[in-house]
Amino acid sequence: MMDSGTLKIEWAAQYMPVLAAIKKQFAKDKPFAGMTVGMALHVEAKTANLVSALAAGGATVHITGCNPLSTQDDVAEALNRIKNVHCYAKRACTVKEYYAAIEKVLSASPAITIDDGMDLIHYLHTKRRDLIKNIIGGCEETTTGIHRLRAMAAEGKLEFPVIAVNDTPMKRFFDNVHGTGESALSSIMITTNTLVAGKYVVVAGYGYCGRGLARKAHGLGAKVIVTEVDPRRALEAHMDGFMVMTMDKAAEAGDIFITTTGNTSVITARHFKKLKDGAILANAGHFNVEIDMDYLAKYADRVIRRDGIETFVIRKKSIHVLAEGRLVNLATPKGMGHPIEVMDLSFALQALCARYIAENGRDLTGGVYEVPQEIDEQVARLKISSLGLAIDEMSKEQKAYLCSWDIGT
Ligand SMILES: NC(=O)c1ccc[n+]([C@@H]2O[C@H](COP(=O)([O-])OP(=O)(O)OC[C@H]3O[C@@H](n4cnc5c(N)ncnc54)[C@H](O)[C@@H]3O)[C@@H](O)[C@H]2O)c1
Repeated sequence: MMDSGTLKIEWAAQYMPVLAAIKKQFAKDKPFAGMTVGMALHVEAKTANLVSALAAGGATVHITGCNPLSTQDDVAEALNRIKNVHCYAKRACTVKEYYAAIEKVLSASPAITIDDGMDLIHYLHTKRRDLIKNIIGGCEETTTGIHRLRAMAAEGKLEFPVIAVNDTPMKRFFDNVHGTGESALSSIMITTNTLVAGKYVVVAGYGYCGRGLARKAHGLGAKVIVTEVDPRRALEAHMDGFMVMTMDKAAEAGDIFITTTGNTSVITARHFKKLKDGAILANAGHFNVEIDMDYLAKYADRVIRRDGIETFVIRKKSIHVLAEGRLVNLATPKGMGHPIEVMDLSFALQALCARYIAENGRDLTGGVYEVPQEIDEQVARLKISSLGLAIDEMSKEQKAYLCSWDIGT
């Protein structure tokens, strides 16, 4: 009987045709022969398939989690059974254990880093500067990681090239929009077993993730309220048919709140006071800083803990927070993260960007780099062909027309 971790990895593999095609090519070309890759990603079945593709390409992989609550322990165990793969992640680890695992990954002296939230790169630049000389470059998966990297680069402190995998169309349009939209809502529904239809769902932040969440909640029959700080995004939400208001107003109306701003202190003390009894709060942004958990812990008269739900009773009013305010799609006990097909695209990008770094990183200086257009397009073409779809090709005449300036009315 196969172990549960390997069964999960195999299940995911069937829905990852793009990564499978890349793995096949890697097995032939061995682009990572003799290289160590250090990773801090959510350790679950889809990630395991990325690890296995890199290992097929000749890499020795050292991996840990990027969130203390998102690891699936059986997958972590299964990863340790793959040749040349070492996994240090453990679900519900303490902060000390979390950083001890980051230290272990970096002690293996990787040439390439793959991060989701920039924890490896932060640790390298603050605590293990001695290892920076071995690094050729890195890849970053998420919006928050890229904010941090750009801030470092602006201060001239980022010492090697890092590809902003998040910022490319093949990631944002599918992973952030559809992935976060579907998985956060399904995680909320499965954790609380409550109905979305007919409820007021408040989405904080109308970026890529927020748009997906708002659309999918609307599709389920919710009345969607959006809060924003950017007037253009707020207007977009308004014209997409959603109610737009401040969090102060939304706090009074909402039944379910989902933060996805990548910012801090979005739902705080003054909002808690206005919430309805029984309001459900969840965060889909990268860090657990969007909902003021410290306030709730300090001022609650009573806390009731259920699987994935903490109920804070303040002056006889119950406020339910899911997954300790961490990424709701991954950190609830039944949270499975993004749908497999979405991560097939994101991890295909990661795999090809890691190869790009292996082959070109030494020619690049420290800084944040866009995903090369040809990689973005290659992933889209592989996906289109795996779906059995065909698209038109531009004719010579059309290409010439788009490059001309002297054809008018
Ligand atoms: N849950 C997941 O699996 C998952 C997947 C992808 C990204 N993320 C994370 O989700 C977060 C958002 O990512 P994104 O790609 O949508 O980013 P984005 O930059 O496209 O959108 C963020 C939006 O939040 C708005 N905002 C900022 N501060 C606000 C505030 N105080 N109140 C209301 N709105 C505010 C911004 O104006 C912006 O429109 C990031 O932390 C990212 O790392 C999570």
